[in-house]
Amino acid sequence: MLLENMSYKEVEIYLQEKDTVLVPIGSVEQHSPYGLIGTDFITAEAVAREVGKRLDLLVAPTLPYGMSQHHMGFKGSITLSPQTYISVIKGITTSFLEHGFQRIIYINGHGGNINPTKVAFDQLKYEGNRGIYQIISWFLLEDVLTLAKELFQDLEGHHATPSEVSITKFLRPEAFEGKSTQPKKVEKPQYYWPLNKDEFKKLFPDGRMESAPWLATEKYGKLILEEAVRATINEVRNILKMEVV
Ligand code: NI
Repeated sequence: MLLENMSYKEVEIYLQEKDTVLVPIGSVEQHSPYGLIGTDFITAEAVAREVGKRLDLLVAPTLPYGMSQHHMGFKGSITLSPQTYISVIKGITTSFLEHGFQRIIYINGHGGNINPTKVAFDQLKYEGNRGIYQIISWFLLEDVLTLAKELFQDLEGHHATPSEVSITKFLRPEAFEGKSTQPKKVEKPQYYWPLNKDEFKKLFPDGRMESAPWLATEKYGKLILEEAVRATINEVRNILKMEVV
């Protein structure tokens, strides 16, 4: 059930039975010469919409832009500041709260969104808001990590991973025409975190972080997406069992 295709009357009817909404969040940032700039929001949206379909839950429009300051050394990346991102998450959450939603679940495709999203939740609670706010990052779920390890061993890495690139290859094969597929060396430099954009580019000059995205295939993408959906459903079911106090 997609919010963007509903009327307010239909939302009123939904709210008579349910109090949950899934909000896909991602980023618009470089994913090396091997992957799509939209990778993180494309994957989060696919996971959220499939979970919404299987659990009969409302899915909000995707927030594509994220907190991606460390990728700004690469053309086409777009970032919101951490402060702006916190405000955006607060604005989306309070809008749903105002209309009676009580479980607002962000389905996330990008690591850089996690800290500001959690700060937004803290701020909402500090301000006295009720309800359950959660962020589920599909790529960090244990079953997904296990599958990635099985498929790619220690070449999954942390950015422009073969897992996320596989999912986008499965979803948008035509977008991969002309993208690089040439294997390269996988460097594992010592680094601290966070990094600014210049530090990031110095350590990871082609935008990958310890990953081998050339291993990505459509077939793996189908498998990983299914595992991500399954694992996310487990998380969402646990949230649905919680009592809102
Ligand atoms: Ni990504």
